[in-house]
Amino acid sequence: MTQKVGVLTAGGDSPGLNAAIRGFGKAAIGKHEMRIVGFRDGFRGLAEDRRMRLDSATLAGILTVGGTILGTSRDKPHRMRVDGRVVDRTDDIVRTYRKHGLDALLCIGGGGTQKNALRLVQAGLNVVTLPKTIDNDVAETDATIGFATALEIATEAIDRLHSTAHSHHRIIVAEVMGHQAGWLALGAGIASGADVVLIPEIPYDIDVVARAIKRRTRQGTNFSIVAIAEGAHDQVGARVYDRLIERRVAARGEKAKRAADAEIAAFDDDHASHAIRFAQKLEALTGLESRVTILGYVQRGGTPSPVDRLLAARLGNAAAGMVAAGTFGVMVGTDGDDIRAVPLELVAGQRKTVPLAHPWIETARHVGTCLGD
Ligand code: F6P
Repeated sequence: MTQKVGVLTAGGDSPGLNAAIRGFGKAAIGKHEMRIVGFRDGFRGLAEDRRMRLDSATLAGILTVGGTILGTSRDKPHRMRVDGRVVDRTDDIVRTYRKHGLDALLCIGGGGTQKNALRLVQAGLNVVTLPKTIDNDVAETDATIGFATALEIATEAIDRLHSTAHSHHRIIVAEVMGHQAGWLALGAGIASGADVVLIPEIPYDIDVVARAIKRRTRQGTNFSIVAIAEGAHDQVGARVYDRLIERRVAARGEKAKRAADAEIAAFDDDHASHAIRFAQKLEALTGLESRVTILGYVQRGGTPSPVDRLLAARLGNAAAGMVAAGTFGVMVGTDGDDIRAVPLELVAGQRKTVPLAHPWIETARHVGTCLGD
């Protein structure tokens, strides 16, 4: 019997989402003779039964297109804002799934999506997921769709900052995305030869950074490039942040959770201007003029790189194979060159940060990059 599969993209967009939709769709339709239907704007579209036709015609010509033709949102099934109130819409989602006689649902998203997908598995749906995020922080997979492209974009941007920093004898602080993980800042920092790389996994000491930059000046190089991850903290900030997270984890009851969330949100709001304050302090400590460039959303936009297209096609094809074989409740990720299906229970709620013994960290240190510690 022909299987019918729903597809959605959720969380922040990333290059390669359309390539994944296409890879899954072409294999599902062409190889496994399934029917597929898209749901718009992540889990919200599923709750509201807003669909998009996905057939051979709609799948054509999207391989190289950035963003997602389905639209996306950060809405969670169990906590969706409706008319100013937060409501659990899991039942609505189950109803949509049953109404359309779906045999499975493919959710393409990052860490939050893996958690939400597990909730839908627990509500009785057949779910398969794919990992996408420019942050590369999804657990149990080496690669995530979008990271390779973002790495290229951030690297090229920092390359370009080098020549202007050099000409003006300035420090340029480039803020790189990555949420609470340092993969993108570290990868782009190494690839572009940044002099200082600051990541969330290694709380920094600004005096150590200033000393490294002054050493460069003494050696005759009067400019420096600092790649700072958006989630990087100095040693004091890291302790404060860890305490806020511990309080959130320990919070019991809706009121306590909301209060803990509000504290984290206030901290995050303040942290948004962290790179600017950091550059000002560094200027005062080194006497070198400093500027900031926040790379921001350009890192998420535009055409996916060949590496991401290939990854998306492979994972999409493998996900179609999982559905055909009746393997559900799994994320299809990578393990080196291999593809593997991991139970969502092992993925949900975990974050893959950069291990301190990771070869990228060793490489950065050995080529003389200051990591701020
Ligand atoms: O997860 C991808 C990401 O771009 C992070 O690097 C960044 O912290 C976050 O999304 C930004 O989120 P939003 O799109 O909600 O502003």
